[in-house]
Amino acid sequence: MAQGDVVGVSGRRYVRLLDTTLRDGEQTPGVALKPEDKLLIALKLEELGVDSIEAGFPVVSDGEFRAVKAIAKEVSNSEVIALARTRREDIDKVIDADADAIHIFIATSDIHMKYKLRMSREEVLDAAVNAVSYAKSHGLTVEFSAEDATRSDPDFLVKVFQEIVNAGADRLDIADTVGVMWPSKMAWLVKFVKENVRGNYLLSVHCHDDFGMAVANSVAAIEAGADQAHGTINGVGERAGNAALEEIAAAVKFLLNYDVGIRFGRIKEVSDLVSKLFGIPVPPNKAIVGANAFSHESGIHVHGVLSNPITYEPIDPGTVGMSRRIVVGKHSGKHSIVYVLRYMGIEPRDDIVNAVLKKIKELGDIGVRVSEEDIRRIVMEVITSGGFE
Ligand code: KIV
Ligand code: ZN
Repeated sequence: MAQGDVVGVSGRRYVRLLDTTLRDGEQTPGVALKPEDKLLIALKLEELGVDSIEAGFPVVSDGEFRAVKAIAKEVSNSEVIALARTRREDIDKVIDADADAIHIFIATSDIHMKYKLRMSREEVLDAAVNAVSYAKSHGLTVEFSAEDATRSDPDFLVKVFQEIVNAGADRLDIADTVGVMWPSKMAWLVKFVKENVRGNYLLSVHCHDDFGMAVANSVAAIEAGADQAHGTINGVGERAGNAALEEIAAAVKFLLNYDVGIRFGRIKEVSDLVSKLFGIPVPPNKAIVGANAFSHESGIHVHGVLSNPITYEPIDPGTVGMSRRIVVGKHSGKHSIVYVLRYMGIEPRDDIVNAVLKKIKELGDIGVRVSEEDIRRIVMEVITSGGFE
C-alpha cells in the first residue's frame, strides 16, 4: 500500500466511485430525463452506496437546475456533485443548487484549446485557477477535470494540476474524453501525475469507451494508484459511453481485492431502473448485469456449473443481484436435460433424456431457438408419445 492511500474498514485500500449516470450518462444521444426521474435514480444510487453522485450540469436548463437542487436536498449518504465550466455563472448555479461539491472542467489538450476554446495555455491555466479559487472561497469541495487530459502534453497537464492543487482543489481528474487510452498507458499517466504533482489531493480518472477499454483503463488507473474512478450505470454516456460503474466496482472488489462502498446486491435493480428510464436495453452479453452474464448452455459448461459453479462463474450471481440460468439449446448436453426434468418433477430416465436432447438438437440444427415453453412441450410430447423407447 503506498503512502497516502485511503484505507477501508478491512485494512485494504478504499477506492472511491463517482457515478455520473445523471450527467455524462444523460448526455447519451437522444436521452433526456425529467427532474423526478433523475431524483429516482439518485436515490437508488445512494442506496447502492456510490461515494459521489454527479447530479447534473445546473447551468444547462431550468429543469436540470431543479433536478440537482432536489437531489442535493434528498440525498444525504452520498456526496452530491454538479458540473461547471470555469465560468462564474456556471459555478454560481452549482452554489445556488446547494450541491456538496463542484466538478469544474476545462480542456488542457492543444487540440481542444486551439479548435474549441480558442485559448492559449496561459489563458486556460488562469481560467482554471480562478474558477477553483472562487469555488473554494464558497466552501465547496472541488474536483477539477482536465478535459481531454489523455491527449494533453503531460508536462502541461502536470503544471495545470499543480496550480489547481495550490489553489485548493480537493480532487484532480484525468479525463480520457475520447477514450484513446489503453491500460498500460493509463497506468503510466497516473503514476506520472502522482509523482509530479505535490500536495494533498485525491486522483481520479474518467474514461470513455470509444475503443472498448474504458473499464480496463479505469481498473489499470486504480491499480496504478488512482483513488477514484468515474463511471455510469450500464456504461451509458456520450458516443460509445462511459466506463460501466458496476463493472469497475466488481473488478476492483473481486479482482484487485480493494474495498469499495458499493452494496453489490443492489446492482441489478439500479441497472434495471436506468435501462427503463433511459430507454436503453442492457445488451444480453453485458458483463455483470446482462441477461446472459450468468447463463450457461453448452453441455460442458452446464456439467461443470452443476457440479460446482466456480468452474464457469467468476463470482456468485447472487452477489450482484443476478440469478444463474441454465439455457437449453443445440449446445446442451445430458446434464442440462436431467436438470430440467428434475426441475419439472420428472424422473430423468436415460431414455427420456436422450429423446428430449435429440429433439432439441434437431430443432437447433434448423435454427430454431427453444423457449422454456417449448422445452416443457417437448418433454411432455416425448413422455406421452412414448417416443423415447
Ligand atoms: O469526458 C469528459 O471529458 C467529461 C468532462 C466534463 C470531465 O465528461
Ligand atoms: Zn465524459
